[in-house]
Amino acid sequence: MKRILTYGTYDLLHFGHINLLKRAKELGDHLIVGLSTDEFNKGKNKQAYHSFEDRKMILESISFVDQVIPENSWNQKIDDVIKHDIDIFVMGDDWGGRFDFLTKYCEVIYLPRTIGISTSKIKNDLKVAENG
Ligand code: CTP
Repeated sequence: MKRILTYGTYDLLHFGHINLLKRAKELGDHLIVGLSTDEFNKGKNKQAYHSFEDRKMILESISFVDQVIPENSWNQKIDDVIKHDIDIFVMGDDWGGRFDFLTKYCEVIYLPRTIGISTSKIKNDLKVAENG
């Protein structure tokens, strides 16, 4: 029984997110997503379109996702890995190397990002379309 953990905001869900979650789940049996809260995002000067509660509900509807927990801070990862008995920590390779400190506690894997899509791109493309 392998337990997997990943983090993210998962706003305006797109196929890059689904590709990441699908591959993460294929690494084990139970996939937990640490979902950035609205307050945590505010601290990063990031604002999601969908609220935390709505993003959580959407993620929980995905067959690859077994559990969603809140991500409130940068410093919770070690505690989460221990508390949830995590075997593998997974992130997209835009975060490559940033979480290597977790290798003391579990395996750390960076998966290649899906090319050509991101929440920022969707927001930007819609803005451009709206402005003609
Ligand atoms: N991700 C991915 N491929 C993409 C976009 C995201 O594999 N094309 C992965 C990220 O690497 C991360 C997870 O999906 O592990 C959640 O990413 P998130 O930052 O919520 O999504 P982005 O689309 O990257 O959002 P933004 O543009 O706001 O950074």
